[in-house]
Amino acid sequence: MKPMGALPLEFAQQNGLLKIGGRTADNWAARTADTPLFVYDMAIVVARIARFRAAMPAIDLHYAIKANPHADLLTAIAPLVDGLDVASSGELAKAMIVKPAASISFAGPGKRDDELSAAITAGATLNVESEGEAARAFAIGDRLGQTPRMAVRVNPDIELRGSGHADGRSRLAVRGRRGAGGSARKGDRRSGRGLARVPYLRRQPSARCRSDHRDAGRDDRTRGAIGRGGRRRPPLVNLGGGFGVPYFASDAALDIERVGEALAEALASRPAILAETRFAIELGRWLVAEAGVYLTRVIDIKQSQGETFVVVDGGLNHQLAASGNFGTVVRRNYPIAVAARMGHAPAETVSVVGPLCTPLDRLGDKVALPPVHVGDLIAIFMAGAYGASASPTAFLGHPPASEIVSGI
Ligand SMILES: Cc1ncc(COP(=O)(O)O)c(C=O)c1O
Repeated sequence: MKPMGALPLEFAQQNGLLKIGGRTADNWAARTADTPLFVYDMAIVVARIARFRAAMPAIDLHYAIKANPHADLLTAIAPLVDGLDVASSGELAKAMIVKPAASISFAGPGKRDDELSAAITAGATLNVESEGEAARAFAIGDRLGQTPRMAVRVNPDIELRGSGHADGRSRLAVRGRRGAGGSARKGDRRSGRGLARVPYLRRQPSARCRSDHRDAGRDDRTRGAIGRGGRRRPPLVNLGGGFGVPYFASDAALDIERVGEALAEALASRPAILAETRFAIELGRWLVAEAGVYLTRVIDIKQSQGETFVVVDGGLNHQLAASGNFGTVVRRNYPIAVAARMGHAPAETVSVVGPLCTPLDRLGDKVALPPVHVGDLIAIFMAGAYGASASPTAFLGHPPASEIVSGI
């Protein structure tokens, strides 16, 4: 038997039938007339946003839509946050449906000219990752007759291991930080160098430099870097994203109130140059991961070489992260339950596997579950971030999972 992560608090106390947003899992499955499906409980997202606001009243909250760009969810979240962060022109287009471009930032390495052009035309802020990218943005701005709005991505030279992450686990891995860290390394690595110290931008009198963009975890050196923010007065410093959530058995939840206190202390002693500056944090998974439940139906149960396999109708094609193939080094189990037997005592150790013909397609590895039968719904929790949109949905040609938002 291998451990699994703890169910999110909103589900942990449930007994009998799993309810999401007041409806049973069966009821949700009946609504889509098919499985698998993702259900996102907006009430949980609202509660996370409220908790952030209480913990960090002076910090703007942006939603990094890469975590979950589902249109209904985005529409519900947009009015509750101060800005949206996007990482492609596709995400930019989605974001602009629900939020004015002036509150959208565009991060990520390798932005194509047409993406720079779309962002500049719209008036979104480009988080530039290199001098080359800045040069292209200025040239495109000149052609369009528009001054690009820019932030400079700066990555203080600090190890992200466990920094500000509840899980403290392979910080660059399951949380997607391998991707984020990778892009960071592809960006400006000059530790703590602020906007005004990036020589190319300093030579650009037309640069409307809005902010430093940091992706650093929260530690003293980040706070120090805030203080060394440069010689101009940046209107906005975006501290980046990356608050962890407890996916696995050994993870503890992030004490966001403590983070808020530490940040408030740092900001209280910031230099005069940052006196008028607004600060923002852009979060993805912390806002939405725990709100999502992936429901998949048991198709078959079989024994092989002493192991019981519960074969379900969805797998890594929708839930790459839960299968342990989204950047993780060591495969560990997300929280899993039999939807009709919440709170029941474990009866057997089984592996929950998907329908794809690869041994990688394993949603639960030797997990202890209550009795499971063909036709049961299996619930995989922590499914609200980097699920449907971060999985190889075309692989083997199974249909995409439905996605429903509860409470909108
Ligand atoms: C620039 C940037 N902002 C925000 C995020 C969101 O991270 P998370 O979902 O862990 O909060 C990422 C993740 O890759 C990122 O690269």
